Amino acid sequence: MDQAQSLREMAFAKRPRNVPAPPLRTVAVTSGKGGVGKTSLSVNLALALAKKGRKVLIIDADLGLANVDVLLGLNPAHTINDVIAGRKPLSEVIITGPEGIQILPAASGVTQLTSLSQEEKLIIMQELEDYQTQADVVIIDTAAGISDTVLYFNLAAQDRLVVATDEPTSLTDAYALIKVLFTQHQERSFKLVVNNVADEAAAKAVYRKLAMAADHFLGGVSLDYLGFVPRDPVVSRAVIMQKPLLLAFPSSAAAKGIESLAQALLKAPAPAEAGNIKFFWRRLMDMA
Ligand SMILES: Nc1ncnc2c1ncn2[C@@H]1O[C@H](COP(=O)(O)OP(=O)(O)OP(=O)(O)O)[C@@H](O)[C@H]1O
Ligand SMILES: [Mg+2]
Repeated sequence: MDQAQSLREMAFAKRPRNVPAPPLRTVAVTSGKGGVGKTSLSVNLALALAKKGRKVLIIDADLGLANVDVLLGLNPAHTINDVIAGRKPLSEVIITGPEGIQILPAASGVTQLTSLSQEEKLIIMQELEDYQTQADVVIIDTAAGISDTVLYFNLAAQDRLVVATDEPTSLTDAYALIKVLFTQHQERSFKLVVNNVADEAAAKAVYRKLAMAADHFLGGVSLDYLGFVPRDPVVSRAVIMQKPLLLAFPSSAAAKGIESLAQALLKAPAPAEAGNIKFFWRRLMDMA
């Protein structure tokens, strides 16, 4: 058995056999504007949830410069493309990171995930059947912008964490993303995370501006304030070190903010529909 395989099994061995797994929660981390902290948040939120005993899978849906594996200092050998092409089973593509979090690495073909052939869709569904993930939470780190792929990941997930900062362009881009998901796809529920602000008052001001615009122009949208992460120089230091913030600087203000976000996410009522990973993929692939 290779090391990755044994790590995976150790990570999943903790749940007693007769305790049923809680329903899966799928969370898209999104923003409209680039560079506002989606990937840092995805990785560290995953770690915070794992520390609270959740089994977390991150789907890296953005092949950016500082993507999930880079932030974790990991070097994935394969990507989702290898699964679609039938070259590798999911179990050999998904890698295990710190705290047992699992990562499905990004591929340059991630944009094609929503336009697969019937045969490719079947391969993925069969793989998911065989893989039997035991994740409780799936976090999807989406790309910036409002491409169809970004929209589809947002629509397939049960929760949408919209990340915004107090920069005006971040606010307008977050609003534009919410607007297109609501007006063109009837998606009504969003959770706001304010990142990279001086303090809670600044975060609440961002929330008020977005909520007022949504109330005024997009009647029917519900935007909940989930929490904030303060501006903290250790965030970029962690990126440079390729060590996740939560492990490198666990007592920093930013790490504390992320821990509170994880707590708030777990406390928020679970979405009405019970999810499972196959359901998520089927929704995603059927959107195009
Ligand atoms: N709370 C924070 N305090 C200070 N700096 C931060 C904070 N959050 C993010 N940053 C900085 O912003 C940079 C961009 O973060 P990150 O890569 O997570 O954004 P992103 O939204 O995923 O970007 P992209 O849209 O390119 O994928 C980080 O390298 C870090 O330097
Ligand atoms: Mg990113």
